[in-house]
Amino acid sequence: MEELHIAQGSKTDRYRLLLEQVRSVTEGEPDLIANMANTASMIHETFGFWWTGFYRVQGDELVLGPFQGPLACTRIKRGRGVCGTAWAKGQTLVVPNVDHFPGHIACSSASRSEIVVPLMDAQGKVMAVLDIDSDQLNTFDSEDAQWLEKVAGTIKA
Ligand code: SME
Repeated sequence: MEELHIAQGSKTDRYRLLLEQVRSVTEGEPDLIANMANTASMIHETFGFWWTGFYRVQGDELVLGPFQGPLACTRIKRGRGVCGTAWAKGQTLVVPNVDHFPGHIACSSASRSEIVVPLMDAQGKVMAVLDIDSDQLNTFDSEDAQWLEKVAGTIKA
């Protein structure tokens, strides 16, 4: 695949085509960083989010991985911020207004809402998180969560 196609219709149509393309780009490619890099790019281009990227679990911290968007925090402790909380809980977090999330880490003051999706390894342990930030309030809902879990699930450690 050489070029990303972006569906013009509904959010559902966009996610459906995105997921298909993420699968075709990542399947058969064993390199984790390469797959994270292309996946971040494809999500970011499809929706025009403010920041889209991955943090990888390294010991008791998340360490910044491939992303698209402005400069970001490099390390996040387990349980800190939205990313560290999603890791500790092992579940997707949708934050409609980051100002109302206790302990939110403001890497960028433009970030208004956020979704964080954990990626599991073969043993079911969180090995990374997918973090997407929007410069608008209320950008993400349960539909985004369901699709992004499928997208994140295509990436194998
Ligand atoms: N806001 C996140 C930190 C990461 S960035 O926004 C890129 C958090 O609270 O975990």
